[in-house]
Amino acid sequence: MNVAASLSSFLLEGRVALVFGAGSAGPGWGNGKAAAVTYARAGATVIAVDINPAAAEETRAIIAGEGGRAEAATCDVTRSAEVLALADGVAARHGRIDVLHNNVGITAMGGVLDESEESFRRVLDVNLTSAFLTCKHVLPHMLARGKGAVVNVSSLASLRYSYPYASYQASKAGLNQLTQSVALQFAKQGIRANAVLPGMIDTPLIHQQIAGQYDSPEAMIAQRNAKTPMGRQGTAWDVANAALFLASDAAGYITGQCLVVDGGLGSLSI
Ligand SMILES: NC(=O)c1ccc[n+]([C@@H]2O[C@H](COP(=O)([O-])OP(=O)(O)OC[C@H]3O[C@@H](n4cnc5c(N)ncnc54)[C@H](O)[C@@H]3O)[C@@H](O)[C@H]2O)c1
Repeated sequence: MNVAASLSSFLLEGRVALVFGAGSAGPGWGNGKAAAVTYARAGATVIAVDINPAAAEETRAIIAGEGGRAEAATCDVTRSAEVLALADGVAARHGRIDVLHNNVGITAMGGVLDESEESFRRVLDVNLTSAFLTCKHVLPHMLARGKGAVVNVSSLASLRYSYPYASYQASKAGLNQLTQSVALQFAKQGIRANAVLPGMIDTPLIHQQIAGQYDSPEAMIAQRNAKTPMGRQGTAWDVANAALFLASDAAGYITGQCLVVDGGLGSLSI
């Protein structure tokens, strides 16, 4: 058996991966930063896009420091014109976009009585309309070459209730269906679209956006570890490895799927 040939389908040699939200919300490893670095380690040229230029540049520098290929770019995924310019620029410079990775997501705590209308609309804009816009502007380049993989970072919260955060749950459930819509519409044209649904992942963002629900950051970590059947939160690398698989040719017959990466959390019965 030719092991090297078999394993090469798990890599992204010669591919161009466009990662939206490729920075990290704070020091450490967020899901987007880990995905960008993982794609580069697999051989891809990575376009590390973030609303925060310093965060995108940090990811680019990490990849370059490891001998990989990366560019940093600044873009707000909620702004159609910015996404269009970015996608067209990447396609013009590199001649291809093979992987579209939608990592951007924000959390606003609160159920329908507590959350403001403005906040609800904002979360849907950032978590869901963003992926609509990136697909709208990137898919034409993939379709022109008859090949491409979309990986959307959704959440276990799209399927299961954990806290009252109505806008987050609704936006991620919408993202699952957007994923399936793209997957099925373009299945005959060489496009695959899948979602990764992380459970409780220890990333910088949760310390900024969820920690307020707990007595202390330490209590948050202890409780999130305890809730998970494996006894620990996941890491950004757990999410990135699943994304790499879905982006690679090894997943060539997989489309329209929601891959849960949660240490067993979503399978618990109440
Ligand atoms: N951490 C978890 O427990 C967890 C669980 C389930 C799902 N997720 C999902 O994983 C994704 C990443 O979460 P994370 O905690 O790793 O965060 P992260 O550290 O990857 O940060 C997200 C990045 O997106 C960027 N960003 C924010 N708004 C943007 C915009 N409008 N345009 C462009 N870039 C923007 C931020 O600057 C940041 O660098 C999110 O979609 C989140 O919902 C996280």
